[in-house]
Order: sequence, then C-alpha cells, then structure tokens
Amino acid sequence: MRKLKTAVVGCGMISDIYIRNLAQLFSVTDLVAIANRTLDKAKEKAAFFGVPKAMTIDEVADDPEIELVVVLTPAPAHYDIIKKMLLKGKHVYTEKMFTTDVDQARELVELAEQKNLLIGVAPDTILGAGTQTARLALERGMIGDVTGGVVSINRNQNLNSELFRFLQEDGGALPYDVGIYYVATLVTLLGPVKEIRAFTSPAPVHEREFLFTDEKKDSWQIPGSNVVSAALKFESGALVSLHVNGNTINNEQNLIMLFGTNGIMKVGNPDTFNGTTEILLAENDWVTLPFTHGYNGKNKVSEPMPFDHYGSRGVGVAELAYSILAGRSNRCSKEYGLHCMEVLKGIDIAAETGTTYEVESTFEMTTLTPGYYSTVFGGFGRGDAERSLV
Ligand SMILES: NC(=O)c1ccc[n+]([C@@H]2O[C@H](COP(=O)([O-])OP(=O)(O)OC[C@H]3O[C@@H](n4cnc5c(N)ncnc54)[C@H](O)[C@@H]3O)[C@@H](O)[C@H]2O)c1
Repeated sequence: MRKLKTAVVGCGMISDIYIRNLAQLFSVTDLVAIANRTLDKAKEKAAFFGVPKAMTIDEVADDPEIELVVVLTPAPAHYDIIKKMLLKGKHVYTEKMFTTDVDQARELVELAEQKNLLIGVAPDTILGAGTQTARLALERGMIGDVTGGVVSINRNQNLNSELFRFLQEDGGALPYDVGIYYVATLVTLLGPVKEIRAFTSPAPVHEREFLFTDEKKDSWQIPGSNVVSAALKFESGALVSLHVNGNTINNEQNLIMLFGTNGIMKVGNPDTFNGTTEILLAENDWVTLPFTHGYNGKNKVSEPMPFDHYGSRGVGVAELAYSILAGRSNRCSKEYGLHCMEVLKGIDIAAETGTTYEVESTFEMTTLTPGYYSTVFGGFGRGDAERSLV
C-alpha cells in the first residue's frame, strides 16, 4: 500500500499527539516534515519524534513531494494556510474550526473542488469508538426515531483564556472552541441541521492580569458569543436544545441526551474518543453499550506520554489519506466542516436578527465499518482498527 507523504504545520499544544499518531499509529501516513512559523520549534519537534525534515510553511507549500498537509494552527490562520496549500495542489486536513468566516470556508470548498483535492476538517473525535458506537445503535433503530434532544457543555472560558492565549482570538469563545465537538457529534448522529433559533451572550471584558505567566495585559474580551441557548431543527425533524456556557465554572458537565420513539440515549463526552453510549428502553434500567468500533483513544504505540489524553487524534487524517488513495470523499469532509461552522455562525445570526436562520450547507457521511478494534492482541493488532478506515 502506498503511504501519503504528509507534513504537519503548527507546533503548539495539540501537535504532539498528531505527530506521534501520524508517525507511529497509522500506516497510511508517511510523516516527512514538520513546519512552524519559527523554525527552531519545528526542528525541536522533528528531532524529538524522528521526523526527517523541519521546514518553513512556504517550504512545505513548495515541496513537490508533500501530498497532504495537516494544519494545526489557531483558526484565524487556517484560511491563508489552507488556500496556499490547495493552490500548490496539496490535500489538506485542518484542526477546527475550518476558518473563522463561513464565506472563506465556502471559497476553500470551491477551490478544492476545482483542483480535485480533498479537505478534512476536525473534530475527528466523531470517528472514535464512542460516537461511532452511538451512531450504529441509532442506525440499528435501538431507540427508534430520534424526536428531540438536550445538549449542554460548560467551562470558565475567561479563566482558560489566561493560560491558552489563542482563546483570546476569534474562534476562542466556548461555542467555537468546544461547542463544536457537540455540534459535530449531533450532526454525525442526526444528520444535517435545517433551521436555527437562538439567544446568545458575550464573554465579559476580562480585566485581570495573567495568572499563569508574568505577561501583563490590561484587559481583553473573547470575541463572539460565549453563552448560547439555541433550538436546532434537523432535516430529520428532530428538535434539539443546545446550551453552551463559557461564562461559568470549569467543572465540566457534558450532556448529550437524545429522545427517540422507542427509547432514550445518553452519549459520552464528545471531546474524547471513548465516550460511553447508554440506552434506556421502556420498563428497563440504563444499560451501557459495548464499543462496536476501534479508536478508543488509548495509546498503543509508545511509552505513556503526557499528551496521551488527546486520544486517537489524527484518525480523520488517516481516513482522509485512505479516501485520497481510493478516490472517494472522506468522512470528516469539507462539507461536514462547513456545515458544523455554518451551524455555529447561524446561531449567532439567529440571535442577532431574532429570526430563524435557514442553514444552506448540508453533508453526507457513512458510519465506519463496525467490528474492527484498536487493542486486539494487546495492541500488536492495532492495524485491525485501521482496516475500518480503508
Ligand atoms: N490545545 C487543545 O487542547 C486543542 C485540542 C483540540 C484542537 N485544538 C485546535 O488545534 C489548533 C492548535 O491548537 P494548539 O492548542 O496547538 O495551539 P497553540 O497556540 O499551542 O499552537 C499554535 C501553533 O500555531 C502556530 N501559529 C499561530 N499563528 C500562526 C499563524 N498566523 N501562522 C502560522 N502559524 C501560526 C504557532 O506558532 C504554534 O506552533 C487550534 O485550531 C485548536 O482549536 C487544540
């Protein structure tokens, strides 16, 4: 099997898990280069993970050997880097959100189509054992037709923005930074959203000094909406209440509860790969479903690492690589990325205008083939799960 020559752009916090998994977990990616704004950091990461080359971002674009570029920069930098790579004929996978502007995302979708290239968009947690098990259970009709749901996620995004500086920028408010995992999981489970009504509140102006560094800054305000109360109507007819609250405490209470004609389903934390799916049928107690899929987020390829909790990140890149080789569309597709983004931006528009926002974008996705696991033979057979991506 041919491996895709792959480069990673961005050497921040999330890059370790991607680099380790793309270099060591998946056999379809050949990680040949690491790039960053500052070459020193790229050299450091390349040396640590044994990746052959450290490059500037322009060198990645100009290298004819590189076929697939994985963009791990904050969202405001995505548009320029993705466009640059597409124009040079490279397939791209990008961390969330796709861009910070729906029109820019649409432009990139069109450019990729013109150039016959694929784009993959995070989050790829939806390809993990948790969400894929929930999706298969819904497909098999375990709770009947989903008629509605309640979804909630909270954090203290203002406190978090003191430590994680990118949260002070566009895309840093809780709905975009974390709510996206909930929207991505909902659309993976229920299909596209059709209409939105919403109320939103901004983050407060943050006037404290940095708690975790010596740097002083008078004040900042995380851009966009930091509290969302939205009603989503799906193409299927399901009605879901979405509550995302970044103006509260960090003790995360993640809730996804779906109500069907024959039962109720609770879906585990969608920011992980191994959220458990629980089912309640009439006259029964709650039962936890066994995972039907692999990519449960457990490290199988190296000694334990501090970043192991980021799980199976990169599975969307591997699935994209198999899709490129097979000449088909990928699951975390550009249409999926655009749709997740349009839903979040549509919530803002619905709130601002006090009207119903009609979602234009749509997407299709198939469930991964069940029955392939990540840890058979104690991890030796990890390729088994990879066969579900082929
Ligand atoms: N940190 C997390 O827990 C986490 C989890 C999942 C996804 N993500 C996503 O991954 C992406 C990166 O997050 P992170 O935590 O690694 O961020 P980070 O701030 O730690 O690192 C960002 C990297 O991007 C580079 N960069 C920043 N601006 C750039 C620009 N304009 N041009 C080129 N390079 C630029 C920086 O040099 C750095 O290497 C974001 O989209 C984030 O939403 C982060």
